[in-house]
Amino acid sequence: MIKIAVDGPSGAGKSSLAKAVAAKMNIVYVDTGALYRSIGLYIRRKDISPDDTATVINELPNISLDLRFENGEQHVMLCDEDVNGLIRTPEISMYASKVSAIPEVRAFLLDTQRSIAKTNDVIMDGRDIGTVIFPDADVKIFLTASIEARAKRRYEELKEKGIETTVEDVLNDMKTRDENDSTRSVAPAVAAKDAIILDNSDLTVEQTIDEAIRIINENTHKTTEQTRFYRHFYNFFHRIFKFCMHLRTTGYENVPEYNGCVVCANHVGLLDVLAISACFPRERRLRYLAKAELFKIPLLKTLIIALGACKLDRGGSDIGAIKKSVSLIKSGELVAVFPQGTRQKGKNPAETPIKSGAGMIAYHAKAPMLPVCVKMKKQKYLLFFRRVDIIIGKPIPYSELGFEKGGGAEYKAATEKVYAEICKLGGFTADISDCEDKSAE
Ligand code: DC
Repeated sequence: MIKIAVDGPSGAGKSSLAKAVAAKMNIVYVDTGALYRSIGLYIRRKDISPDDTATVINELPNISLDLRFENGEQHVMLCDEDVNGLIRTPEISMYASKVSAIPEVRAFLLDTQRSIAKTNDVIMDGRDIGTVIFPDADVKIFLTASIEARAKRRYEELKEKGIETTVEDVLNDMKTRDENDSTRSVAPAVAAKDAIILDNSDLTVEQTIDEAIRIINENTHKTTEQTRFYRHFYNFFHRIFKFCMHLRTTGYENVPEYNGCVVCANHVGLLDVLAISACFPRERRLRYLAKAELFKIPLLKTLIIALGACKLDRGGSDIGAIKKSVSLIKSGELVAVFPQGTRQKGKNPAETPIKSGAGMIAYHAKAPMLPVCVKMKKQKYLLFFRRVDIIIGKPIPYSELGFEKGGGAEYKAATEKVYAEICKLGGFTADISDCEDKSAE
């Protein structure tokens, strides 16, 4: 699992940065400040002073905190109440800063923070992620900016939310919070020795994101380099293919830029996998498994390898295919899987049974699933020169696939979830199907 730590003082833009990187890399963004803020809110509601350390500690056993993720957005559940909208006020910021200096509060939140990274690739922002929570993080970024720049940004943010304040008040609050956060005896907000310092006082949001992505890429190996041969081949073959198949792509931007992913599509015709790969960015070659016998035919072998095929050993067994796919995805590849199994010629995708292998692969690779719908225009005799629509949906993050312990029922449910998305993209319902492949094959 990838662990990226983003630490730094208040108002440096950690959460915007981490959110943007998470979306680009398809990993989970965890805002740990929200946990401290939620404890602050709890204490405030109980009318307890945040300086009354003993009473705050006594209250901890009564506090239940849980993180949920919906559409990539984190929701903090405080005693089963979603408090996301209530924890961003200046008052709660100050409560959070004070309670976060209590060692027992930090210990209380340790497991919540660590456990999420056991089953997800994460980018986590906070103050002590690189020093205490994940000293072994793959990448540690310490994001900082001058206090004036940070206060101005935070002021704009509050103004946008309709919270009345002045730049001076925000600056003074920030000075106090900086002092609290960086001088406290437990887990002070300081950069880890091996953190990369990113000062964004003079950078725009986009420049900060680009720089962070560059740092992350330099320190992780989750993008696969395509060979020069493939790049030339892509330009040549894919363009011809695109033209001949009258391919039209929707959702190109949803193809993850980084990291492995299970690409799930409905299976209409022989050329599905090539049609989909022609619609993917050149940098993200689609991989798929092909039987070992095909690799024995000299010219065909070169062609299919160039087109992303991967040899399926062990006599093409299902378990071999799963293992191979998992290892490809773990090394950062996109692997095509057809939940319907074999081609379902002329059948309504919404009514065909599906297998659960795709979910099993996602579970073991700890990877997101990308729904892709293939819609072919009905045409009696032509294989080429008929309209094919490739509709790429939004990736479903691993954290939203409902996995807990793995197992057949969970694999099935995850595959069903992505398959339902495929049907939605294509507008397939139990009685409407628009993708029958009735052409000569
Ligand atoms: O990042 P934020 O402003 O939402 O954090 C609120 C407070 O919580 C902040 O004053 C510092 C504290 N905090 C912390 O001590 N450790 C973390 N990992 C995250 C936040």
